[in-house]
Amino acid sequence: MLNVVILGTGNLAKHLFRAFSNSEKVHVVQVVGRNQESLNDFATQTITTHDFNSISDADVYVIAVKDDAIAEVSSYLKNKKGIVVHASGAVEMSAIEPENRGVFYPLQSFTKGKKVDFSTIPICIEANSPQSLKTLRILAETISEKVHEIDSDQRKKLHLAAVFVNNFTNYLYGVGEEICVEEGLPFDLLKPLILETAEKVQTLSPKEAQTGPARRNDEKSMESHLNLLNNKDHTALYKLLSEAIKQAYEKEL
Ligand SMILES: NC(=O)c1ccc[n+]([C@@H]2O[C@H](COP(=O)([O-])OP(=O)(O)OC[C@H]3O[C@@H](n4cnc5c(N)ncnc54)[C@H](OP(=O)(O)O)[C@@H]3O)[C@@H](O)[C@H]2O)c1
Repeated sequence: MLNVVILGTGNLAKHLFRAFSNSEKVHVVQVVGRNQESLNDFATQTITTHDFNSISDADVYVIAVKDDAIAEVSSYLKNKKGIVVHASGAVEMSAIEPENRGVFYPLQSFTKGKKVDFSTIPICIEANSPQSLKTLRILAETISEKVHEIDSDQRKKLHLAAVFVNNFTNYLYGVGEEICVEEGLPFDLLKPLILETAEKVQTLSPKEAQTGPARRNDEKSMESHLNLLNNKDHTALYKLLSEAIKQAYEKEL
Protein backbone atom coordinates (compact mmCIF):
# COMPACT_ATOMS: atom_id res chain seq x y z
CA MET A 1 0.00 0.00 0.00
CA LEU A 2 1.35 3.42 -0.98
CA ASN A 3 0.41 6.38 1.21
CA VAL A 4 -0.15 9.57 -0.75
CA VAL A 5 -0.74 13.20 0.22
CA ILE A 6 -2.33 15.44 -2.41
CA LEU A 7 -1.55 19.17 -2.22
CA GLY A 8 -4.09 21.32 -4.05
CA THR A 9 -7.85 21.05 -4.38
CA GLY A 10 -8.42 22.02 -8.03
CA ASN A 11 -9.26 20.14 -11.17
CA LEU A 12 -6.40 17.65 -11.23
CA ALA A 13 -6.43 17.10 -7.46
CA LYS A 14 -10.09 16.04 -7.67
CA HIS A 15 -9.54 13.67 -10.60
CA LEU A 16 -6.43 12.14 -9.05
CA PHE A 17 -8.13 11.75 -5.69
CA ARG A 18 -11.01 9.85 -7.32
CA ALA A 19 -8.64 7.60 -9.29
CA PHE A 20 -6.40 6.80 -6.29
CA SER A 21 -9.44 6.20 -4.09
CA ASN A 22 -10.64 3.53 -6.52
CA SER A 23 -7.35 1.64 -6.15
CA GLU A 24 -6.84 -0.82 -3.31
CA LYS A 25 -3.09 -0.23 -3.52
CA VAL A 26 -3.18 3.48 -2.69
CA HIS A 27 -4.33 5.33 0.40
CA VAL A 28 -4.75 9.09 0.14
CA VAL A 29 -3.89 9.91 3.75
CA GLN A 30 -4.46 13.67 3.45
CA VAL A 31 -5.48 16.48 1.11
CA VAL A 32 -3.82 19.83 1.79
CA GLY A 33 -5.15 23.08 0.31
CA ARG A 34 -5.48 26.76 1.07
CA ASN A 35 -9.15 26.88 0.08
CA GLN A 36 -11.41 25.59 2.90
CA GLU A 37 -14.50 25.42 0.69
CA SER A 38 -12.73 23.19 -1.85
CA LEU A 39 -11.27 21.07 0.96
CA ASN A 40 -14.84 20.27 2.04
CA ASP A 41 -15.26 18.23 -1.18
CA PHE A 42 -12.67 15.77 0.16
CA ALA A 43 -13.44 15.96 3.88
CA THR A 44 -15.92 13.07 4.04
CA GLN A 45 -13.38 10.69 2.51
CA THR A 46 -10.00 11.64 4.00
CA ILE A 47 -8.22 13.97 6.40
CA THR A 48 -7.90 17.52 5.12
CA THR A 49 -5.98 20.57 6.27
CA HIS A 50 -5.32 24.13 5.15
CA ASP A 51 -2.22 24.28 7.35
CA PHE A 52 0.81 23.64 5.15
CA ASN A 53 2.89 23.18 8.32
CA SER A 54 0.81 20.12 9.36
CA ILE A 55 1.40 17.82 6.42
CA SER A 56 1.20 14.07 7.22
CA ASP A 57 4.03 11.63 6.42
CA ALA A 58 3.57 9.72 3.17
CA ASP A 59 5.43 7.74 0.49
CA VAL A 60 4.52 10.24 -2.23
CA TYR A 61 3.41 13.90 -2.11
CA VAL A 62 1.60 15.00 -5.27
CA ILE A 63 1.69 18.78 -5.71
CA ALA A 64 -1.36 19.60 -7.84
CA VAL A 65 -1.34 23.39 -7.57
CA LYS A 66 -1.01 25.95 -10.36
CA ASP A 67 2.39 25.87 -12.02
CA ASP A 68 3.85 29.03 -10.55
CA ALA A 69 3.03 27.94 -6.97
CA ILE A 70 4.79 24.52 -7.23
CA ALA A 71 8.16 25.74 -5.88
CA GLU A 72 6.55 27.59 -2.97
CA VAL A 73 4.36 24.62 -1.97
CA SER A 74 7.29 22.19 -2.27
CA SER A 75 9.23 24.25 0.28
CA TYR A 76 6.80 23.04 3.00
CA LEU A 77 7.95 19.48 2.27
CA LYS A 78 11.70 19.89 2.53
CA ASN A 79 12.02 17.80 5.70
CA LYS A 80 9.91 14.92 4.39
CA LYS A 81 11.39 11.55 3.46
CA GLY A 82 8.83 10.63 0.79
CA ILE A 83 9.02 11.55 -2.91
CA VAL A 84 7.71 15.01 -3.78
CA VAL A 85 6.29 15.25 -7.31
CA HIS A 86 4.52 17.90 -9.32
CA ALA A 87 2.05 17.13 -12.10
CA SER A 88 2.90 19.77 -14.67
CA GLY A 89 3.87 19.36 -18.30
CA ALA A 90 5.75 22.64 -18.41
CA VAL A 91 7.69 22.93 -15.13
CA GLU A 92 11.23 21.60 -14.55
CA MET A 93 11.60 18.81 -11.99
CA SER A 94 14.21 21.03 -10.32
CA ALA A 95 11.48 23.51 -9.31
CA ILE A 96 10.81 21.13 -6.43
CA GLU A 97 12.88 22.01 -3.39
CA PRO A 98 13.09 18.70 -1.44
CA GLU A 99 15.91 16.35 -2.34
CA ASN A 100 13.73 13.36 -3.19
CA ARG A 101 11.82 14.73 -6.17
CA GLY A 102 10.02 13.74 -9.33
CA VAL A 103 7.24 14.41 -11.81
CA PHE A 104 3.88 12.66 -12.23
CA TYR A 105 2.37 14.24 -15.35
CA PRO A 106 -0.95 12.86 -16.67
CA LEU A 107 -1.23 13.77 -20.33
CA GLN A 108 -4.90 14.67 -20.54
CA SER A 109 -7.06 17.76 -20.37
CA PHE A 110 -9.16 17.58 -17.19
CA THR A 111 -12.44 19.43 -16.93
CA LYS A 112 -14.35 20.12 -13.75
CA GLY A 113 -17.21 17.68 -13.27
CA LYS A 114 -16.34 15.55 -16.34
CA LYS A 115 -15.30 12.03 -15.31
CA VAL A 116 -12.28 10.48 -17.02
CA ASP A 117 -11.09 6.91 -17.40
CA PHE A 118 -7.60 7.16 -15.92
CA SER A 119 -6.63 3.68 -17.14
CA THR A 120 -6.20 5.03 -20.70
CA ILE A 121 -4.42 8.27 -19.76
CA PRO A 122 -0.63 8.27 -20.29
CA ILE A 123 1.22 9.16 -17.10
CA CYS A 124 4.72 10.53 -17.71
CA ILE A 125 7.05 10.01 -14.79
CA GLU A 126 10.50 11.32 -13.93
CA ALA A 127 12.57 11.11 -10.74
CA ASN A 128 16.05 11.93 -9.55
CA SER A 129 16.83 8.40 -8.32
CA PRO A 130 16.13 4.90 -9.68
CA GLN A 131 14.41 3.94 -6.41
CA SER A 132 12.01 6.91 -6.60
CA LEU A 133 11.34 6.20 -10.25
CA LYS A 134 10.42 2.63 -9.34
CA THR A 135 7.99 3.85 -6.67
CA LEU A 136 6.42 6.38 -9.06
CA ARG A 137 5.98 3.62 -11.65
CA ILE A 138 4.20 1.44 -9.08
CA LEU A 139 1.96 4.38 -8.12
CA ALA A 140 1.20 5.33 -11.73
CA GLU A 141 0.40 1.72 -12.65
CA THR A 142 -2.28 1.57 -9.94
CA ILE A 143 -4.40 3.96 -12.01
CA SER A 144 -3.10 3.82 -15.60
CA GLU A 145 -2.09 1.19 -18.12
CA LYS A 146 0.15 3.69 -19.95
CA VAL A 147 3.15 4.74 -17.89
CA HIS A 148 6.14 6.39 -19.62
CA GLU A 149 9.49 7.44 -18.23
CA ILE A 150 10.50 10.74 -19.85
CA ASP A 151 12.89 13.53 -18.84
CA SER A 152 12.10 17.24 -18.32
CA ASP A 153 13.20 18.30 -21.84
CA GLN A 154 11.08 15.60 -23.48
CA ARG A 155 8.12 16.50 -21.25
CA LYS A 156 8.29 20.16 -22.23
CA LYS A 157 8.26 19.18 -25.91
CA LEU A 158 5.35 16.81 -25.30
CA HIS A 159 3.46 19.63 -23.60
CA LEU A 160 4.16 21.85 -26.63
CA ALA A 161 2.89 19.11 -28.99
CA ALA A 162 -0.23 18.80 -26.81
CA VAL A 163 -0.93 22.53 -27.26
CA PHE A 164 -0.96 22.02 -31.04
CA VAL A 165 -3.22 18.95 -31.05
CA ASN A 166 -5.52 20.06 -28.27
CA ASN A 167 -5.67 23.82 -27.64
CA PHE A 168 -5.13 24.96 -31.23
CA THR A 169 -7.57 22.45 -32.77
CA ASN A 170 -10.15 23.43 -30.16
CA TYR A 171 -9.71 27.09 -31.10
CA LEU A 172 -10.33 26.10 -34.71
CA TYR A 173 -13.52 24.28 -33.64
CA GLY A 174 -14.56 27.66 -32.23
CA VAL A 175 -13.88 29.36 -35.57
CA GLY A 176 -15.99 26.69 -37.29
CA GLU A 177 -18.77 27.22 -34.75
CA GLU A 178 -18.74 31.00 -35.32
CA ILE A 179 -19.01 30.54 -39.08
CA CYS A 180 -21.94 28.12 -38.64
CA VAL A 181 -23.80 30.33 -36.15
CA GLU A 182 -23.43 33.39 -38.43
CA GLU A 183 -25.18 31.38 -41.12
CA GLY A 184 -27.89 30.06 -38.76
CA LEU A 185 -26.48 26.52 -38.91
CA PRO A 186 -26.03 24.29 -35.84
CA PHE A 187 -22.43 23.41 -34.84
CA ASP A 188 -23.80 19.85 -34.37
CA LEU A 189 -23.53 19.42 -38.16
CA LEU A 190 -19.73 19.43 -37.83
CA LYS A 191 -19.46 17.01 -34.90
CA PRO A 192 -19.34 13.71 -36.87
CA LEU A 193 -16.54 15.20 -38.99
CA ILE A 194 -14.59 16.24 -35.88
CA LEU A 195 -14.90 12.71 -34.48
CA GLU A 196 -13.93 11.07 -37.78
CA THR A 197 -10.75 13.19 -38.01
CA ALA A 198 -9.77 12.37 -34.42
CA GLU A 199 -10.48 8.67 -34.98
CA LYS A 200 -8.53 8.53 -38.25
CA VAL A 201 -5.23 9.49 -36.57
CA GLN A 202 -5.59 6.54 -34.21
CA THR A 203 -4.60 4.32 -37.15
CA LEU A 204 -3.09 6.67 -39.78
CA SER A 205 -0.35 9.27 -39.37
CA PRO A 206 -1.71 12.87 -39.56
CA LYS A 207 0.41 13.31 -42.67
CA GLU A 208 -1.45 10.47 -44.42
CA ALA A 209 -4.84 11.55 -43.08
CA GLN A 210 -4.67 15.18 -44.34
CA THR A 211 -7.39 16.13 -46.83
CA GLY A 212 -8.85 19.42 -48.12
CA PRO A 213 -8.28 22.11 -50.76
CA ALA A 214 -4.77 23.09 -49.55
CA ARG A 215 -3.53 19.51 -49.76
CA ARG A 216 -4.88 19.27 -53.34
CA ASN A 217 -3.62 22.80 -54.05
CA ASP A 218 -7.12 23.61 -55.26
CA GLU A 219 -6.63 27.38 -55.77
CA LYS A 220 -10.22 27.99 -56.90
CA SER A 221 -11.78 26.58 -53.73
CA MET A 222 -9.30 28.41 -51.50
CA GLU A 223 -10.01 31.71 -53.27
CA SER A 224 -13.74 31.25 -52.87
CA HIS A 225 -13.35 30.42 -49.14
CA LEU A 226 -11.27 33.58 -48.63
CA ASN A 227 -14.02 35.62 -50.31
CA LEU A 228 -16.57 34.23 -47.83
CA LEU A 229 -14.57 35.22 -44.75
CA ASN A 230 -15.40 38.55 -43.12
CA ASN A 231 -13.17 38.30 -40.04
CA LYS A 232 -9.57 39.36 -40.68
CA ASP A 233 -8.17 37.00 -38.01
CA HIS A 234 -9.94 34.08 -39.66
CA THR A 235 -8.60 35.17 -43.05
CA ALA A 236 -5.05 35.32 -41.68
CA LEU A 237 -5.45 31.87 -40.10
CA TYR A 238 -6.89 30.40 -43.30
CA LYS A 239 -3.98 31.73 -45.34
CA LEU A 240 -1.32 30.65 -42.82
CA LEU A 241 -2.63 27.10 -42.40
CA SER A 242 -3.32 26.62 -46.12
CA GLU A 243 0.22 27.76 -46.94
CA ALA A 244 1.71 25.36 -44.36
CA ILE A 245 -0.34 22.45 -45.73
CA LYS A 246 0.54 23.35 -49.33
CA GLN A 247 4.25 23.41 -48.51
CA ALA A 248 4.05 20.07 -46.70
CA TYR A 249 2.55 18.35 -49.78
CA GLU A 250 4.18 20.40 -52.54
CA LYS A 251 6.44 17.59 -53.71
CA GLU A 252 3.50 15.19 -54.12
CA LEU A 253 1.59 17.46 -56.50
N1 LIG B 1 -6.15 20.56 -15.63
C1 LIG B 1 -5.48 19.82 -16.49
O1 LIG B 1 -6.00 19.47 -17.55
C2 LIG B 1 -4.07 19.37 -16.16
C3 LIG B 1 -3.51 18.32 -16.92
C4 LIG B 1 -2.23 17.87 -16.61
C5 LIG B 1 -1.51 18.51 -15.59
N2 LIG B 1 -2.06 19.55 -14.91
C6 LIG B 1 -1.26 20.21 -13.85
O2 LIG B 1 -1.90 20.02 -12.61
C7 LIG B 1 -1.58 21.12 -11.75
C8 LIG B 1 -2.87 21.70 -11.20
O3 LIG B 1 -3.66 22.16 -12.27
P1 LIG B 1 -5.27 22.25 -12.15
O4 LIG B 1 -5.80 22.20 -13.52
O5 LIG B 1 -5.77 21.28 -11.14
O6 LIG B 1 -5.43 23.75 -11.60
P2 LIG B 1 -6.67 24.40 -10.88
O7 LIG B 1 -7.93 23.63 -11.08
O8 LIG B 1 -6.64 25.84 -11.25
O9 LIG B 1 -6.28 24.29 -9.33
C9 LIG B 1 -5.14 24.93 -8.86
C10 LIG B 1 -4.96 24.64 -7.37
O10 LIG B 1 -3.77 25.31 -6.94
C11 LIG B 1 -4.06 26.02 -5.76
N3 LIG B 1 -3.12 27.11 -5.60
C12 LIG B 1 -2.87 28.12 -6.48
N4 LIG B 1 -1.90 28.95 -5.98
C13 LIG B 1 -1.55 28.44 -4.77
C14 LIG B 1 -0.62 28.82 -3.76
N5 LIG B 1 0.15 29.91 -3.93
N6 LIG B 1 -0.52 28.05 -2.66
C15 LIG B 1 -1.29 26.96 -2.50
N7 LIG B 1 -2.19 26.52 -3.41
C16 LIG B 1 -2.32 27.26 -4.52
C17 LIG B 1 -5.49 26.49 -5.97
O11 LIG B 1 -6.04 26.91 -4.76
P3 LIG B 1 -7.26 28.00 -4.79
O12 LIG B 1 -8.49 27.22 -5.12
O13 LIG B 1 -7.26 28.53 -3.41
O14 LIG B 1 -6.92 29.03 -5.82
C18 LIG B 1 -6.10 25.19 -6.50
O15 LIG B 1 -6.33 24.27 -5.46
C19 LIG B 1 -0.75 22.11 -12.59
O16 LIG B 1 0.62 21.90 -12.34
C20 LIG B 1 -1.10 21.71 -14.02
O17 LIG B 1 -0.08 22.04 -14.93
C21 LIG B 1 -3.33 20.00 -15.15
